[in-house]
Amino acid sequence: MKVPEAFSAYAARGPEWVAFLGRLPGLVRGLLEDWQLTPDGPATHGYCALVLPVRTAGGRPAALKVSWPHWEAELEHIALQRWHGDGAVELLRADPHRVALLLERLHREDLGDLWDVEACEVVGGLYRRLHVPAPAQLVTLSSCVSRWCDELAALPRDAPVPRRMVEQAVSIGRAFASDEGTDGRLVHTDLHYANVLAADREPWLAIDPKPLSGDPHFEPAPMLWNRWDELLAATRSVRDGVRLRFHTLVDVAGLDEARARDWVVLRMMCNALWRLQDPPGTARQLPDEEYLTRCVTVAKSVQD
Ligand SMILES: Nc1ncnc2c1ncn2[C@@H]1O[C@H](COP(=O)(O)OP(=O)(O)O)[C@@H](O)[C@H]1O
Ligand SMILES: [Mg+2]
Repeated sequence: MKVPEAFSAYAARGPEWVAFLGRLPGLVRGLLEDWQLTPDGPATHGYCALVLPVRTAGGRPAALKVSWPHWEAELEHIALQRWHGDGAVELLRADPHRVALLLERLHREDLGDLWDVEACEVVGGLYRRLHVPAPAQLVTLSSCVSRWCDELAALPRDAPVPRRMVEQAVSIGRAFASDEGTDGRLVHTDLHYANVLAADREPWLAIDPKPLSGDPHFEPAPMLWNRWDELLAATRSVRDGVRLRFHTLVDVAGLDEARARDWVVLRMMCNALWRLQDPPGTARQLPDEEYLTRCVTVAKSVQD
């Protein structure tokens, strides 16, 4: 098994990654042996995990996913187990200690290959199937929201984001923190274009959940802020492009528009907050100013 160069380059993220990358070849070798798997093609990867195509002892094509250990990855198997292949990739085996999953093999093609609005139709349909009652082991969205509100409220007044929007997000968040609809449903939280792959048994299946016990209305934001360059290049305004995606998701999934809008505003301000909390010198694809503008633009676009 060869670790892709771009994945090895994540060593630049810091000592924890250096240690993980050092362990990785041995970790994969151990899993192949223990689970009687044979490599079946070159490894691929995302931001957090190495994924190796394999065959099981019975000859079934599968994918071995080994993640950098963090709490969200450690909960992934719980969501996949709960879905049982309905709208999501099927889980064949899991080892939470090694943060390793054996998954049904899907295709390379993802929702990035469809027109963005068509992709929103697909994802809106997936929401309806994925938002089932949440397993008890999951972290609750309300507990996350309370923490986010405290951190947003503590942002300095001269932070480079509109103060009014930060205050709006805090008040939205405080209301959600004590709203009983905020917890209880299984939400994916990272359902964007690259986390939906083509499959044989269904046209499209979700992968890579970072699950919470939450509110289905929390879900749309990543479908808005991703594939941004296309919104900039389109003949319609960015605002109209964002709104078209948003309304497609809301309509297809049958979500309450006002509630979904509030979550978008809050999530975009949280994204801005986390960027502002980055230690100085953190390497990022997008410069801070551009990133913060994008957060504000998404939040504004769904509002007027
Ligand atoms: N079940 C699967 N079958 C085939 N390829 C997969 C499968 N799961 C993931 N992949 C590939 O590996 C990449 C990274 O996996 P993903 O679960 O999204 O992890 P990350 O957290 O790193 O984004 C995906 O974008 C996809 O290309
Ligand atoms: Mg992914």
